[in-house]
Amino acid sequence: MKTDLLIVGGDGDLALRKLYPSLYYLELNNCMPENIRIIGMARTGQTQEVFHDKIKTWLKKGIDAEFYSEEMWETFSSKIQFVQGDASNAEALAKARDQFYDANNQLIVYLAIPPMIFGKACKSLEECGMVQDSTRLIVEKPLGDSRESFLAINEELSSTFTERQLFRIDHYLGKETVQNLLALRFANDIFEPLWNSKYIDHIQIAVTETVGVGNRWAFYNETGATRDMMQNHLIQVLCLMAMEPPAKLEADAVRQEKLKVLNCLRLIPEDEVEELTVRGQYARGKVGGQEVPGYLEEESEKYEIDPNSQTETYVAVKAEIQNYRWSGVPIYMRTGKRLNTRHSEIVIQFKQSSHTIFDQNHRDHKANRLIIRLQPDEGMRLRVMNKVSGLDAGIPLEAGCLNMWFADHNPKPKHDAYTRLLLDVIRDDQTLFVSAAEVEAAWKWVDQIFAGWKSTGMKAEQYPAGSTGPSSSDALMAKDGREWHETQDRE
Ligand code: BG6
Repeated sequence: MKTDLLIVGGDGDLALRKLYPSLYYLELNNCMPENIRIIGMARTGQTQEVFHDKIKTWLKKGIDAEFYSEEMWETFSSKIQFVQGDASNAEALAKARDQFYDANNQLIVYLAIPPMIFGKACKSLEECGMVQDSTRLIVEKPLGDSRESFLAINEELSSTFTERQLFRIDHYLGKETVQNLLALRFANDIFEPLWNSKYIDHIQIAVTETVGVGNRWAFYNETGATRDMMQNHLIQVLCLMAMEPPAKLEADAVRQEKLKVLNCLRLIPEDEVEELTVRGQYARGKVGGQEVPGYLEEESEKYEIDPNSQTETYVAVKAEIQNYRWSGVPIYMRTGKRLNTRHSEIVIQFKQSSHTIFDQNHRDHKANRLIIRLQPDEGMRLRVMNKVSGLDAGIPLEAGCLNMWFADHNPKPKHDAYTRLLLDVIRDDQTLFVSAAEVEAAWKWVDQIFAGWKSTGMKAEQYPAGSTGPSSSDALMAKDGREWHETQDRE
């Protein structure tokens, strides 16, 4: 069967910055289905040539220069067709449909448009007779800003498409190292016996960024770090780290195990929100030696900056999964913009035995720690204790590391997160996509934090751009006698 990939919002930001470059990688990897047609649909009329030029310009910015070749571009672009049309209007869509639609082909629709028009687009597709049992629909966040708004969006989607037809993208699940979590946990039997509250002291999940919100201010001000990052990316990483082994590496099994984790996430009571969460907002500072404005000083071309905005550009939470495996293990998660480094990692801090045979005077005995680096410098590092070499009496100890940096063993990847996810839609594999129940459960947990912030009037604490975040974030750890793991590149 031939495949048609229809990108609605085909000349928008998401399509140009992410989707076409990822699809180019499919071509480069020889994974593009034969006879595929990529149809970019946009409301603004333009010639095929202008459309291609636009894609080419963004493609060159979006992919590694060494992977670009004119020959590959020619092959790739010959599959891309421009169609003028408005999917939110059935009449307009019907006109566009006649230029490309073939009911015998497998249709995949990517709604690269704002979620408030998802519903209209679904209705139009249906009214135009473009929805069959085999049709697949791809959407991505923001899927609402609360459980309630998510349910409303989902109802619109599911009045036309079944759950089996819906592919909800969380691009973190397309990252190699996030998938590698499954390999680490379930293909290395030494970890499983240790992966629980008996042996693990605490877990940290961090996604820190150096970028600010720039000209996304208006969108971001309605969203904030909790909805933009924690509700989806961090929570998904948490689920893969914490879930029970699925019976099989299949969509239903994996998604159900993730859902069980979400359902065991303790909802943070409103009166504990000040103790268990941190809400921060960046102030003016220096990132990488460059002066950068504070969140409330960002220049926004289109919107007025609200000088009283309490939108958080940083959030940290002490969470707990209340189940047999994890109860009692604090899970500290944090994410923020305009911090000192860009890195994403999971830190598994093991417990230390209460008895030591080593001489107290020569003791630098630290508990083992596994660091799973998601980006950049993907890889793993295990802290182990060694004897200090030499003739000193006894067995003095020092910490050493077992390192496995993926770049040292693997060729440079010729793809990105979206490439993998788009290919999985083509393969009809939902394993790396998020189910409605997962999204709903994640919102339920996040809604509770917002309710607590509202009822307690907890304000966002300013932190200087280029720092490690608000001081209350360090205090969150310090009061438990712990500290955040601060990473250096390949430290
Ligand atoms: C997006 C957020 O989902 O993820 C952005 O909307 C954020 O605010 C981005 O910058 C981070 O993704 P990555 O892949 O660069 O870690």
